[in-house]
Amino acid sequence: VAIVVVTGTGTGVGKTYVSAALAALSTQRGWPTAYLKLAQTGVPGDIPDTETVQRLAPDTTTVEGARYEPALSPAAAARATHTPPPDLHDLAGLAQDLERQHRLVVVEGAGGLLVRYDEDGATLADLARDLGAPVLVVAEPGLGTLNTTALTLEALAHRGIQLDGLVIGAWPEHPGQAERSNIGDLETISARPLAGALPRGAGKDPAHFVETARTSLAPQYGGTFDAQAFRNRWRQ
Ligand SMILES: Nc1ncnc2c1ncn2[C@@H]1O[C@H](COP(=O)(O)OP(=O)(O)OP(=O)(O)O)[C@@H](O)[C@H]1O
Ligand SMILES: [Mg+2]
Repeated sequence: VAIVVVTGTGTGVGKTYVSAALAALSTQRGWPTAYLKLAQTGVPGDIPDTETVQRLAPDTTTVEGARYEPALSPAAAARATHTPPPDLHDLAGLAQDLERQHRLVVVEGAGGLLVRYDEDGATLADLARDLGAPVLVVAEPGLGTLNTTALTLEALAHRGIQLDGLVIGAWPEHPGQAERSNIGDLETISARPLAGALPRGAGKDPAHFVETARTSLAPQYGGTFDAQAFRNRWRQ
């Protein structure tokens, strides 16, 4: 797979850390790797996602498609600033340009799957479908994730978009009953083993990030994450 589209069950679920982990494993294999943040909002208030990925996976080509200061959806941020919204068709072209020059292109959306990019209601799902690219879904670990994950997976299936893998974005050090119980249910609703689980706080230590990435992502992403072992470890 050359392009992987990364979405999540919402905003702040760990998409950027999972994207950085994909990029870190890919660059460590010596693969030319690109990361594209389609539309960054909330900057300069927040650190841009490209900066986080560059810090954790320094050999990655990082590109930002559009930037808006308000911490809103891309469509709303463009409206609020009276500037043109991002053009997802152009951005799909940009992803394809990057694909010609890299072995892996990680494309991160804003927020969750159906966040609007413009007033016509273009979403990341449209872009994934146009590119024919599979989508990696980053899920929250705790209470509420079964619903938002199921909704996201159903929206993908409804549009004929391939699910690349389901990854938990920030697995807590001391998971409670809901988190532990959710592992099996997330695998049930996605009808497959987890493709990874990144420990919460994984990004704090750039020097060890690639090791963490390796143990947190499944072999399909170049890691050693073992879904069965993870499931058994936290079985209650
Ligand atoms: N695995 C992780 N390691 C360290 N911090 C994390 C991790 N996952 C989430 N966080 C924390 O949660 C915040 C949100 O994570 P992240 O930026 O990856 O979310 P996102 O899904 O990319 O959000 P956005 O929709 O804004 O792009 C981070 O700023 C960080 O503080
Ligand atoms: Mg992000």
